[in-house]
Amino acid sequence: MTIISNKINAMKILVTGGAGYIGSHSCIELAASNHQVVILDNLCNASPFSVARAEKLAETRFRLLQVDLRDAQAVHQVFERERFDAVVHFAALKAVGESVEQPLDYFDNNVGGSIHLLQAMRAHGCKRLVFSSSATVYGNPDSVPVNEDAPLRVTNPYGRTKLMMEDMIRDTCAADPEFSAILLRYFNPVGAHPSGEIGEDPRGIPNNLMPYICQVAVGRRECLSVFGGDWPTVDGTGVRDYIHVVDLARAHAHAINTLEHAHHAATTLNLGTGQGVSVLQLVRAFEQASGRKVPYEIVARRAGDVAEVYADPQRARDVIGWQATRGVDAMCADAWRWQSQNPDGYISA
Ligand code: NAD
Ligand code: WQD
Repeated sequence: MTIISNKINAMKILVTGGAGYIGSHSCIELAASNHQVVILDNLCNASPFSVARAEKLAETRFRLLQVDLRDAQAVHQVFERERFDAVVHFAALKAVGESVEQPLDYFDNNVGGSIHLLQAMRAHGCKRLVFSSSATVYGNPDSVPVNEDAPLRVTNPYGRTKLMMEDMIRDTCAADPEFSAILLRYFNPVGAHPSGEIGEDPRGIPNNLMPYICQVAVGRRECLSVFGGDWPTVDGTGVRDYIHVVDLARAHAHAINTLEHAHHAATTLNLGTGQGVSVLQLVRAFEQASGRKVPYEIVARRAGDVAEVYADPQRARDVIGWQATRGVDAMCADAWRWQSQNPDGYISA
């Protein structure tokens, strides 16, 4: 593989969790903004193939440091060896059900890992951070669309780790007026790079709707279980704000570019399209995009689910000049391209 790197780099950025689903797409967008990317990932939920493919798509090198954020000393060494202008912090465990069964692992990994990262940043004078938060911090919102001032009420250990990490970052900004951070609350990231080269590759049975639909369409699973047909929504199935992962990735480049020029004391931004889409609407859009049938059956509601959540994304537009540009059809077409070209995920790379 020939690696071409003749760009003038604006900033050197450490991307934790950069080998993962959203991280790998974001590295490409950061490189497209001329930033130099170094990935820190312990590969606990990612394949090194994702990094190799992202490098090829970006036509540049992303150095991968195989480091675990739980190892405080190793994290300090990363910052001792080289200077970073900013950090984009994706690394976390993210499965809601698993977090209920193994809460301490989630606090250890997500909160403990973030403490080590923030300590190392502080010790080495790195004062710009973009953080992956989640709409899960809104729990069951009182009304939709949800804006950033809505009450925060987490309902599971994963969500609690995200809120604790947000609070830690807010407190860090309060303690050091030079520390600058943008906290991005993602709604429901789906889709893949339009090349079909990188995408979401869950281990085991997918927890989330889109990867489950993809695996049914490609023949890895027989039938989609639709959790509840009696929600007070347009067609009785749950409504969410699905956002194309490339749009989400672009938002990270916007956030980093904003931090380069302006100070933000822990500004929180929703990242969504502002459009609610039901489970059955997504299934139909996927069938249309893929030309495949997605058999489904309506089963009981899933514990902890809510009827309808979608974003008010206006603040992201105002603060970082970003808005989503890709609709559900592109999300489905790109998810299907990735799945059909890589039916077993990166294993077949
Ligand atoms: P992912 O699992 O694909 O990526 C996370 C990456 O972090 C993986 O590559 C994993 O190997 C790495 N990692 C985890 N713990 C680590 C540790 N201790 N040290 C080093 N690396 C570690 O998940 P994703 O979907 O790309 O999510 C990225 C971030 O976005 C996460 O923080 C997640 O909580 C957040 N988020 C995701 C969603 C979603 O639906 N995918 C929604 C909202 C927020
Ligand atoms: C979407 C809709 C389900 C699977 C989760 C996390 C949240 C965030 C994003 C990280 C719902 C229905 C699902 C299936 C179904 N992640 N569904 N059959 O629950 O909105 O959010 O991912 O931060 O924290 O909770 O996303 O994709 O699981 O579900 O009918 O097999 O699809 O009931 O209505 P969710 P999801």
